[in-house]
Amino acid sequence: MFVDKELCKRCGACFAECPYQLVVEDKEGFPKLRLAAKKTCIACGHCVAICPVQAVTLPEMPVTQELTPEQCAPLVKDARVTQEQAEQFLRGRRSIRAYKNKTIPDDVIAEMLDVSRFAPSAKNGQPARWIVTRTPEATRKLAELTVEFMSINNVFPGVIKNWKNGVDKILHGAPHVAIVHAAEDGLNPAEDCSLAAAYLELAAHARGIGACWAGFLMEVAEGYAPIRELLGLPEGHSIYAAVMLGYPKYRYSRIPRRREVEFRWID
Ligand SMILES: Cc1cc2nc3c(=O)[nH]c(=O)nc-3n(C[C@H](O)[C@H](O)[C@H](O)COP(=O)(O)O)c2cc1C
Repeated sequence: MFVDKELCKRCGACFAECPYQLVVEDKEGFPKLRLAAKKTCIACGHCVAICPVQAVTLPEMPVTQELTPEQCAPLVKDARVTQEQAEQFLRGRRSIRAYKNKTIPDDVIAEMLDVSRFAPSAKNGQPARWIVTRTPEATRKLAELTVEFMSINNVFPGVIKNWKNGVDKILHGAPHVAIVHAAEDGLNPAEDCSLAAAYLELAAHARGIGACWAGFLMEVAEGYAPIRELLGLPEGHSIYAAVMLGYPKYRYSRIPRRREVEFRWID
């Protein structure tokens, strides 16, 4: 670990924030990396990002590349949201099921996926990988194959009936769907991918773009060879979530009610 001793205030933040206590104090009270870091560091970058004076650089190790303060984007004070704004934003996100007949530019989708990288992941494994439909035709094909699977297996007759009547209950006519997959033998692929999908929904909401989990597709996709083949899912990977994306046809003006939160304290 490179520590600029001219800058370091020995505040202790990098010791305290390391998830594996790999940063310890040297004799003078400056931070240094324990040898165990070579094997145990998860490259979360917290030691570099927490430093208020940009004194810490993480060296290249077998498990991680060098990380300098300059490589870590600054947290812009002016871009901070208030508690009221943040809570309205979170409470105001809705699953959108009516979309405009308009595609989202590639770069906008790429930017939203980029935000999803910052979701928590077990041991900072970041296993989520995405497959995204670029065109409404490709999106519709996936909905069609999902209905095909349902018909073959005699499940969800209502959804099939709707489809025959021109009503898409699978992807609600969204122009895009983003499917997140990961290696099955990872630590917590289902949780990691679900969180990445939740972040994608929030990134969409931040841009006024509609999103909704595509549960039917998610359930069927993996077990139905034609969908698996169409997606080109890598060997050993599973699908853990699918999110429709598109411009909402309507805007919500109120926040619907939800069940009271249930919790209890223990002392
Ligand atoms: C795992 C999961 C699967 C879902 N599958 C579908 C789905 O297949 N179709 C759909 O319209 N909504 C689906 N939803 C969205 C939920 O219905 C929605 O989140 C819930 O009704 C609450 O509404 P809100 O998201 O607007 O607060 C799914 C949500 C989750 C978390």
